[in-house]
Amino acid sequence: MRTSLVSIPAIKREYPVIIGQGAIAELPRLLKSLEPIDGVFIVFDVNVREHAERVRTVLGEGSLVSVSPGEASKSLKEVQRILRKLLDDGASRQSVLINVGGGMITDLGGFVASVYMRGIRCIHVSTTFLGIVDAAIGGKTGVDLDETKNIIGHYHHPSAVIDDTDFLSALSSHHLCEGFVEVIKIAAMRDAAFFSFLEEHVEEILRKDAATLEQCICRAVELKASVVEGDERDQEERMFLNFGHTIGHALEAASSFGISHGEAVSIGMVAEMRLTRSSEADRVCALLQKIEMPTEIPQKYGIETLLPLMLHDKKNTDAKIRIAVPRVLGKGELLHLDPVTLKPR
Ligand SMILES: NC(=O)c1ccc[n+]([C@@H]2O[C@H](COP(=O)([O-])OP(=O)(O)OC[C@H]3O[C@@H](n4cnc5c(N)ncnc54)[C@H](O)[C@@H]3O)[C@@H](O)[C@H]2O)c1
Repeated sequence: MRTSLVSIPAIKREYPVIIGQGAIAELPRLLKSLEPIDGVFIVFDVNVREHAERVRTVLGEGSLVSVSPGEASKSLKEVQRILRKLLDDGASRQSVLINVGGGMITDLGGFVASVYMRGIRCIHVSTTFLGIVDAAIGGKTGVDLDETKNIIGHYHHPSAVIDDTDFLSALSSHHLCEGFVEVIKIAAMRDAAFFSFLEEHVEEILRKDAATLEQCICRAVELKASVVEGDERDQEERMFLNFGHTIGHALEAASSFGISHGEAVSIGMVAEMRLTRSSEADRVCALLQKIEMPTEIPQKYGIETLLPLMLHDKKNTDAKIRIAVPRVLGKGELLHLDPVTLKPR
């Protein structure tokens, strides 16, 4: 078992991320460190009810608040339902929410924690690979407004994160690879040695070998934490996390989300590296193909479809397309592309 620390200088806070098999056993100790506590509420995705019940057994307490699986639950209606339940069940400023699930639950439960009585403490127990390596780290919480994703939200950091790799045993290989794409992304941008590690250990990660997963998660969490520490509020450095996302978001929108987020980012990473003539594009492409992610823009989405969507991307200003890309592995850069020629300028 390993512990990574996420420290957020802007709010003078630091919290642990406990990673490994059986990490859930650390939960009572973590909760004790938060005393005084007045009530524990476990917000969970019904697909992982058994993990939520395990959390309650380990703690010997906790009111269960179930949430239907799927992105549709990341809504204001669901926020209101959970807030109502907290109020009816007597949650106070000293209560703690424990969010058990993937990125949907940590975004939703984190947001509820950020607004209930102007903010209560929460702990994330992440149960998807994407949640572990990305969504639960960095303090971004929020919900969708109809079809617009993550448009309502807050920065609200958890008091701790638990990544128990035993909880990943039933995760589908598709969902594992959705998270793997984000790990490849951050390794390509920030750490060439870690990228080589992923190339060497791809099979072990795909078969969820516990020791390799733990090592992989620990480095991915450290890298994401280091980006967030330098730029909690998305001003500059955090944009490094957008590698693959400029084209990826355009593809998700053009396909009306028929192309999943991980698939879109996978295609986007390779396309953005090729646009900037990165010599490493083939290496990134080969690793993505090993995890059976798509790497080519489907022919039906021509540049005339994608370009307006790329220009519409919320991180672009002045009709410029801003991308984050590693022209050299491990050394990501922020570049502007000319909106007509799509060449870096
Ligand atoms: N806050 C952030 O910084 C951030 C970053 C990336 C993504 N996100 C958000 O995260 C969400 C996507 O996260 P996700 O991919 O984890 O989605 P998710 O939470 O919807 O989980 C994906 C699916 O896996 C199921 N599941 C969860 N844990 C499981 C387990 N252990 N075994 C079997 N099935 C399990 C869920 O029920 C669901 O069907 C999106 O809403 C996205 O906007 C947030």
